Amino acid sequence: MPTIEFEGEAIDAEIGDNLRQTLLNAERSPHNGSAKYANCRGNGMCGTCAVEIVDGDAGEPTERERHRLKLPPHSPDSGLRLSCQLSVADDLVVRKHPGYWGQHVERD
Ligand code: FES
Repeated sequence: MPTIEFEGEAIDAEIGDNLRQTLLNAERSPHNGSAKYANCRGNGMCGTCAVEIVDGDAGEPTERERHRLKLPPHSPDSGLRLSCQLSVADDLVVRKHPGYWGQHVERD
């Protein structure tokens, strides 16, 4: 059973679970501020569920994910992933960055 580490909490998941939904089910959110309410509800279009996978195998991004992450305010080299497009297959350490889209990547 994979574990998702997010905001100091360990969240149990099943292989194949959607990362965004797993966080929401645990009463955590991959969205910042008002993006918690104004988002595309997991359709890979708004880009507000972007997170960094700090550790763990997140697999390859989907075509939809790749496409959305090329569009501003994201950039293809940000290293971010769309949590709504990501199926959990491994223990993951997940970090949300600041900004409406989580686009202000601050790495330690
Ligand atoms: S919720 Fe909109 S792209 Fe993920």
